[in-house]
Amino acid sequence: MREGWILGIESTAHTFSFGLVDPDGKPRPSSSDTLRPTEGGIHPREAADHHVDLSTQLFSKLLSDNNITTREIGAVAFSQGPGMGACLRTGAAAARTISEHLGVPLIGVNHCVAHIEIGREQCGCDDPILLYVSGGNTQVIARLDGRYRVLGETLDIGIGNMLDKFARKHGIPFPGGPVIEQKSLEWISKNPNPSLVGLELPYAVHGMDLAFSGLMSAANKLVSEGVPFEAVCWSIQEHAFAACIEVAERALAHTGKSEILLGGGVACNQRLREMSSIMCSERDASSHCPPKMYCIDNGTMIARLGWLEIRSGRTTSLTHSGIDQEMRTDQTPISWP
Ligand code: ATP
Ligand code: FE2
Repeated sequence: MREGWILGIESTAHTFSFGLVDPDGKPRPSSSDTLRPTEGGIHPREAADHHVDLSTQLFSKLLSDNNITTREIGAVAFSQGPGMGACLRTGAAAARTISEHLGVPLIGVNHCVAHIEIGREQCGCDDPILLYVSGGNTQVIARLDGRYRVLGETLDIGIGNMLDKFARKHGIPFPGGPVIEQKSLEWISKNPNPSLVGLELPYAVHGMDLAFSGLMSAANKLVSEGVPFEAVCWSIQEHAFAACIEVAERALAHTGKSEILLGGGVACNQRLREMSSIMCSERDASSHCPPKMYCIDNGTMIARLGWLEIRSGRTTSLTHSGIDQEMRTDQTPISWP
């Protein structure tokens, strides 16, 4: 294989993103665009059209931002799953085309593992418990015997999806998570010592698993009963994040590990980061979170995982480059330190 930069292409859902790592695996910021429907949820076909329309522009921008030419690309990595079929196919098609055109290897990677590995690289964690909180996924993960094992996960919808749906019902377009964070801060600024009395919601922990749809329905009910929207936003965050942190804490206790690593779009949230830090400081552990641009979906994390896979001797033939919408976190063998 030609030594060179690794190109990473991310297209599991709303975001289409191209990213790079240099020949030493060092990440460079991605060139990305996210489809934000003005009303309703995401339609996979519309997202796929968005991705196709923007592919040339985003790829060219990435090359010019980094001052490299296509000749310096040594391999092309892409998100092979999990995600929405129509979206995944656009990224896979772009990756196959570029790899064939340049005559360089192709490597299909696991999107969830990419969130983990960019976090490890950015934060310098050794052997963390991962709290992976995004739109579609909510998992507590630990590495054991060459796999990232899922110790607990959502039994219904992802935490970000819950935040987005709640927000949408009250007129806030995708992505709702950041607006809910903003509204919560407004509630706290008006109520410096906020209380959960009258704002109680169902608790989302079920053993090591989580569930968010009951919490969302109860939150909608509070708003319909006239409770201030900002107060309910604050309460949703307190309940949903406390549930995630509780499962993560139990994972630390069970495994004897001493680091938490946050990842996924919801890990941008300052309150979640704060809760994780408090929990870790109480048990002599450390809490880590990558910069926001590497929490949300990004091509750089795909490039980074591609780099790790290729260094371990793995590439993907054209015949095996089909997408896998249901790819599981623990499906991918992890053969690097
Ligand atoms: P995955 O395929 O891994 O499930 P995804 O398609 O959901 O990823 P991400 O970019 O990882 O994409 O996450 C997007 C989610 O993150 C959205 O649900 C969005 O509302 C949420 N989010 C982003 N910023 C914040 C924030 N500050 N607070 C809470 N949620 C946030
Ligand atoms: Fe993601």
